[in-house]
Amino acid sequence: MNPTKEFDIIVWGASGFTGRLVAAYLFKQYGVQGDLKWAMAGRNQEKLAAVRAEVADSSVPIVVADSNDEASLKAMILRTKVVCTTVGPYVTYGSKLVAACVTHGAHYCDLAGEVQWMRQMIDKHHEEALANGVKIVHTCGFDSIPSDMGVYFTQKEALAQKGQRAKRIRMRVAGMRGGLSGGTYASLSKVLEEAMQDKNIYKVLVNPYGLNPKDKQEGGDHPDLQKVIFDPTSKSWIGPFIMAGINTKVVRRSNALSGYAYGNDFRYDEATMSGKGFKGRFKGNMSALPLILMTAKPGSILKRIANRMFPKPGEGPTKDQRENGFYSLRFYATLEDGTTALGKVTGDKDPGYGSTSKMLGEAAVCLAKDSLPEISGVLTPSTAMGDALLDRLEKHAGLTFSFK
Ligand SMILES: NC(=O)c1ccc[n+]([C@@H]2O[C@H](COP(=O)([O-])OP(=O)(O)OC[C@H]3O[C@@H](n4cnc5c(N)ncnc54)[C@H](OP(=O)(O)O)[C@@H]3O)[C@@H](O)[C@H]2O)c1
Repeated sequence: MNPTKEFDIIVWGASGFTGRLVAAYLFKQYGVQGDLKWAMAGRNQEKLAAVRAEVADSSVPIVVADSNDEASLKAMILRTKVVCTTVGPYVTYGSKLVAACVTHGAHYCDLAGEVQWMRQMIDKHHEEALANGVKIVHTCGFDSIPSDMGVYFTQKEALAQKGQRAKRIRMRVAGMRGGLSGGTYASLSKVLEEAMQDKNIYKVLVNPYGLNPKDKQEGGDHPDLQKVIFDPTSKSWIGPFIMAGINTKVVRRSNALSGYAYGNDFRYDEATMSGKGFKGRFKGNMSALPLILMTAKPGSILKRIANRMFPKPGEGPTKDQRENGFYSLRFYATLEDGTTALGKVTGDKDPGYGSTSKMLGEAAVCLAKDSLPEISGVLTPSTAMGDALLDRLEKHAGLTFSFK
């Protein structure tokens, strides 16, 4: 990476709902002309200037780049060490940017949860990014940093404290409060639309190892939980977790890219806990309703109802909802000798935006500033940034990691 570049980070999409939160976070945490040099970018100068007046001040430079204008993307990339993008749906706006980062040598991080698009980026760019020493890191928000770093941390502590790895981890969402943005709803709708049109995309989505290298897609894991069942491990009723389809694949890719640091036979799954007894079972069934609406068949009546109910691009949870949100994740580990251990990850603020904007901001700073593992390609948060990211998340982003 060229150390003489004008900026450490450019936040592209800074006029959108999540991008402006990232810009606000960087401004509050790092200022602008100090140790961290960064700029706000997007396609519309006036809109960016208006957002800048709200979340920062006029000392933050503005860069204009449109996803349809490759020259503007190249000009932006040549000015920065890292591009941090919230311009989504990524399948619609992101491909040229990834290609340009790989070719022109800038690290990259995003909030993509679009598994089929990440598969395309891996197939098209992993080898070239590897050769060029570029780190392309998808999923640097609630999907999938808490899961990926939670497993990384639990495995690290199991080795340090117990002298053995976990052969299986069951992640259970113990509590969570937050909301959805229009951009996320649009991205999710796009994934479903594409999966309906293309069988190959559907196959990637249902393959537990759909993000692994093509020759490493075998293993003992099954597709994600689809119903409400009683879980003896957490002693609670559990149901589907909406992010599991992304997170579990990211964790498995981390294992494969790390040369199977968690073991060739490592198994991983995710679910949401809803409590004990009749109440827990009822709650589990009720919490599936928003999921059914969100994933309704494109063109159906249910989908039309969902389109009216969920936010439009540019909209999302209120400040109050973001400030009062939280999440708490448990990592039930079974160690090699059959004994058990428990990892925990918590986050302040709502998972999707308040916490996500801090995680993405810290991932970008980590890529720009920290001493990182000697690995490049299309990576996952834990393989790209490891301990350096863990440290930043705890110190700055409101996450806690514990193990017993
Ligand atoms: N993984 C997670 O945890 C997580 C959490 C939050 C969000 N997300 C993802 O982040 C993405 C953004 O969500 P959001 O709610 O912030 O969306 P949003 O409010 O709709 O923002 C989208 C941004 O993209 C910009 N944009 C649109 N078309 C463009 C183009 N042709 N060239 C350059 N910029 C363009 C928009 O610019 P204008 O302002 O000029 O329209 C805006 O800045 C989505 O894909 C969402 O799924 C993921």
